[in-house]
Amino acid sequence: MAFHIIILAAGQGTRMRSDKPKVLHPVAGKPILAHILNTVNGLKPKLIHVVYGYGGEQLQKAFENYPVPIHWVNQPKQQGTGDAVKHVLPFLNEKDTVLILLGDMPLISERCLQDLVKILDKKDQMGVLTACVEDPDGLGRIIRDEDGKKVIAIQEQKDIKEDRIHQINEINTGVFALPVSLLQRYLPRITNRNAQGEYYLVDLVELLHREGITIIPIVCKESWQALGINNKAQLSKVERQYQRLQVAKLMEQGVTVIDPERVDIRGELRVGKEVTIDVNTIFEGEVSLGEGTYIGANTIIKDSTIGKGVRIASHSVVEGATIGDNSAVGPFARIRPGTILAEEVHIGNFVELKKAKLGKNTKAGHLTYLGDAIVGSYTNIGAGTITCNYDGCNKYETRIGDHVFIGSNTLLRAPVNIGDHATTGAGAVIRHDVDKNQLSITWQKQLFNNENESFKTLIKNIDIFLDEKLDKNKK
Ligand code: UD1
Ligand code: CA
Repeated sequence: MAFHIIILAAGQGTRMRSDKPKVLHPVAGKPILAHILNTVNGLKPKLIHVVYGYGGEQLQKAFENYPVPIHWVNQPKQQGTGDAVKHVLPFLNEKDTVLILLGDMPLISERCLQDLVKILDKKDQMGVLTACVEDPDGLGRIIRDEDGKKVIAIQEQKDIKEDRIHQINEINTGVFALPVSLLQRYLPRITNRNAQGEYYLVDLVELLHREGITIIPIVCKESWQALGINNKAQLSKVERQYQRLQVAKLMEQGVTVIDPERVDIRGELRVGKEVTIDVNTIFEGEVSLGEGTYIGANTIIKDSTIGKGVRIASHSVVEGATIGDNSAVGPFARIRPGTILAEEVHIGNFVELKKAKLGKNTKAGHLTYLGDAIVGSYTNIGAGTITCNYDGCNKYETRIGDHVFIGSNTLLRAPVNIGDHATTGAGAVIRHDVDKNQLSITWQKQLFNNENESFKTLIKNIDIFLDEKLDKNKK
């Protein structure tokens, strides 16, 4: 006897108005199907069968290296959920049990499913996961007997008489648990005589009830867990609910979240104590925030490790970086992959760092690009400094030592090295290495026009002067 899981994901999801298979649309940056796979994997099934149809190739490719093993089952024509399950029967044994889920309900929790799966302990009964919702429009309804105890059928809205529709708010979540033997016996008896002309899996309920088999309803108390995604409005509703849950967990851990409706976590976020997160912040991939960190408004942080006491000011984008303790970044900073900042580094506005390593207490306060650069400690990078790391073909490295002062608007043509305690003058174009303690400037004479000389004459004289120089050089 083995326990199997079936996830139905063959439909296109026409109402999404997209060419992408429905279950590939992302919730919190991950495909809808991935959420369900992760959840059901916790139930330790022998096998997870995913029924695919529309966009099968695209779907399987997206899950090629997925950590949860999947057995793909093709449903060539999408003739309904009952037909979909039929295609899995050849892979199941009479003594096995199954849990069947729809592929479009990513919020379902393991705990809720566990309650349902428990009914499999007893032979010859079927479990149905239901939920009571405020707005059951469009969903299948649970039909109970007169005293409301027994479930006798599930009916789709399109097949219910108008006057009854508004009386029932208990809905079918689409999740069932039952022994395979019952599927084998009764699935072939389902017909497609309904409004949609489809083989409905839900029809099994009425069929089994008539045969005297007990249907056990398990009511999912948090009805949002049953939210299915059929269109983009529902996709956004599920996304928001998912984010709310994640942010609630953060707040439980003591994080100060200025507005829980305006934080998005698309991955995993680990936090220390006394962390504050301001509004419109997005965390992607794996991010950790050290104790006492502040994340400013409109900031995006992806796959990064942020140390203790760090302040990321508003409108900053940080990706693939490590930010050392007590550093300050932004506002309007862009930290790109491969950047490692030591402790107490200060990165100010309109500074872009790529593959840059900055030592302790180094500062780049304004309008700077440091790419492929290794900078020591206690160094000051003046406003407008650029590492010219690219010659059109290759990238080169710039190395700057400790206690260096790089004057404003310095161009560092890589590869180039600046020794410890060196200084470069404002506006310098540094093509050659600067040694330890050296000062390097590139000279430009500041000229003035004489009292009676027009600007034009001044410029003309400069041209004549430069031409003479060039001629000399040619000789
Ligand atoms: C379904 C249920 C409804 C329930 C609701 C809960 C049926 C007939 N209706 O309606 O009772 O209240 O979910 O959200 O089950 N699929 C296949 N092959 C098919 C048809 C569908 O694999 O031939 C898959 C779809 O890809 C989808 C899932 O089954 O992931 C559900 O189909 P969908 O069309 O979304 O059903 P609903 O109309 O939402
Ligand atoms: Ca659905």
